[in-house]
Amino acid sequence: DQLKRELAEWEGRYPALSTAPSDGLGVDDRTGLRPVYRHRERMLSLAKSYSELELRSFDERIRRQLGRQNLIYVVEPKYYGLALSVTYENGRLVRAVTRGDGEVGDDVTANVLATTTLPKMLRGAAPTGSAPGIPAVLEVRGEIYLGLAEFARINQARRKAGEPPFSHPRNLAAGTLQQLDASTAVARKLTMVFYGYGDCQPAALRPVAQQNWLQQLRAWGLPTVENPRVVQGADALWAAVQAVGRERENYLFPTDGAVVKLDEGLLQKQMGVTHQAPRWAL
Ligand code: IVH
Repeated sequence: DQLKRELAEWEGRYPALSTAPSDGLGVDDRTGLRPVYRHRERMLSLAKSYSELELRSFDERIRRQLGRQNLIYVVEPKYYGLALSVTYENGRLVRAVTRGDGEVGDDVTANVLATTTLPKMLRGAAPTGSAPGIPAVLEVRGEIYLGLAEFARINQARRKAGEPPFSHPRNLAAGTLQQLDASTAVARKLTMVFYGYGDCQPAALRPVAQQNWLQQLRAWGLPTVENPRVVQGADALWAAVQAVGRERENYLFPTDGAVVKLDEGLLQKQMGVTHQAPRWAL
């Protein structure tokens, strides 16, 4: 991330020398060997920040644009795995797709079903056809990752067998997800956590705010982010980010930061998106 940022700075200074703008989404989850699927709604990335000052100017920018003070944010741990979009139709899991380039990703449904304990039906769904409160089409967005205990277990077995250990749980999660043979993938347990959504039909079932969305996901029986913090104003926002920083050594999952999201959906819409990232999240 730091190198990418440095590159972007150089590109800004010498645009004529820049051949490949560094703000594009990297595609590291495609093999070219799997069927692809076009997301109904684009999968976005996140803008990054590395300091209290940058966090405060993020809040300031939003306050200025919206003309509002003391905004409400949700602060979540940032899971370090692979972004995944899981589609439920009338509450039934039909597809799991990697982010790919944000528009089109790989269909990895078989491996996701083989390696996770993801619910195949949303709680409250009817086995056949529609049910009240259950979207006809729902894209749930989240992260698939290798838990740290599972990572340790796999590496212990490798050491015993005289094989070199894997270096990072994210790479191993990516490899497992892309195993063309689902029976090989099944030996490793991946975990899924959800934090967002893409398309949701009918639109009336779309959540009005991030905190409602997390509650709704839980009500449907889906795993959601651990210990999300709802805070108001820049001071509380910074305190919550620091709290995640302290907490993270106790997490059972790989993490690479905290994600800050403006809570209210209408305000998110007003802020809009730049490049490939929302202006309402960091
Ligand atoms: S929200 C529209 N929340 O981070 C906002 N992303 O670098 C989309 N990630 O592509 C992302 N934990 O794969 C969000 N609690 C969280 C997350 C999270 C991990 C990943 C996600 C995203 C990437 C951006």
